[in-house]
Amino acid sequence: MISIPKGTKDVLPADSYKWQYVENAAREVAALYGLKELRTPTFEHTELFSRGVGDTTDIVTKEMYTFRDKGDRSITLKPEGTAGAARAYIENGLAGGAQPVKMYYITPAFRYERPQAGRLREFHQFGVEVFGAKGADADAEVIALADALLKKLGLHVKLHVNSIGCPKCRAEYNRALKEYFAPRLGELCADCRSRYEKNPLRLLDCKEEGCRKINRDAPVILDYLCPECKAHFEALKGYLDLAGIEYSVDPRIVRGLDYYTRTVFEFVSDDIGAQGTVCGGGRYDGLIEEIGGAPTPAVGFAAGLERLLIVMEASGAPLPPPKGPKVYLAGLDGECRKKAFVLAQELRAAGISAETDHMERSVKAQFKYADKIGAEYVAVIGGNELAAGEMNVKRMADSTSEKVPFAKAAEYFSAK
Ligand code: HAM
Repeated sequence: MISIPKGTKDVLPADSYKWQYVENAAREVAALYGLKELRTPTFEHTELFSRGVGDTTDIVTKEMYTFRDKGDRSITLKPEGTAGAARAYIENGLAGGAQPVKMYYITPAFRYERPQAGRLREFHQFGVEVFGAKGADADAEVIALADALLKKLGLHVKLHVNSIGCPKCRAEYNRALKEYFAPRLGELCADCRSRYEKNPLRLLDCKEEGCRKINRDAPVILDYLCPECKAHFEALKGYLDLAGIEYSVDPRIVRGLDYYTRTVFEFVSDDIGAQGTVCGGGRYDGLIEEIGGAPTPAVGFAAGLERLLIVMEASGAPLPPPKGPKVYLAGLDGECRKKAFVLAQELRAAGISAETDHMERSVKAQFKYADKIGAEYVAVIGGNELAAGEMNVKRMADSTSEKVPFAKAAEYFSAK
């Protein structure tokens, strides 16, 4: 037997309704906020991510699925959706149209991580990106959209916000970080020693226990914000208050991607263990320019669909049950089964979901099957019914039944 690759998962027919429920909820909320869907390729040129996501991040240094294609180009399966969205914005001239450009996507993403509950090598994101708006009101609206989706799904997760400033205030903060870490370099992991040289902010993102301990007392960025970044952060908090969205300021959030400027945020669940961050995002005013476009402010987030589903399950959030067919047509034998086949076609043509037997089962076994798949009605066609030109329709919820002429079948079920 050939097995599924490590860190990937099948979504089976019996479970896909859960995914559809979450995806539909995401699409509905996105539409309420005026967002249109963007679809970008599953793979991009590697350089897009090394420049966009940042070549000192774990994602780029350790986790990308990168290969050479037959034309000897370096190709990478997308580890996230933002860089591709930014490339599409530039390449398709969207900057020339009405601003801001507001989009969402539902996409697979690939990271070579150590798999565990809530952490996969192929996972799925619902992401939102808003290009062209620089005010904190845009940040707040993006956060409000995420909040609306999480509430729609019945989740009670906590919002943590922070500002990591702009390149101007970051330079001073990096100096402070280097000063703090310099005497402790020997205690840091090898990765962190290289982060110290290349991008000290990444030190705060290390997952090694020893480094995390040292990180706890490191200087916090909020003390180093320039007046403009400080004002932006204050404005964001003001808008969140206006929207009635609860949050806490967590100066330790730096996020695992390099493109962020100013606002960063995460929605975290207490209902599951280590992988409790269901949604993360922030502002990234430098990314578009970094990958070749004109300077363009931008803000967005992505939520992991697998994590949303895990948290929904763990917290007992309501999930509407899967829907069975409206009607199951059970034919007794030969001609009755043919009539069931034809009626099923007629009902489908009228927009009514219908199923019939393909397994040569007895009527009793067909009833059992219909119950299992959640059919709302079972219509039995035996010899007597066939002769009378009608079927015996049973409503499964309360076992009431009535005779319905074949000619009236579509009309009858349409009204139900
Ligand atoms: P991220 O925090 O790397 O941000 O990922 C966003 C979400 O994707 C996480 O909160 C988590 O729910 C899910 N996720 C990440 N890695 C995995 C994994 N290995 N297995 C399962 N789920 C995972 C981004 O990707 C940014 N592009 C978000 C963004 C959009 N920022 C601005 N715009």
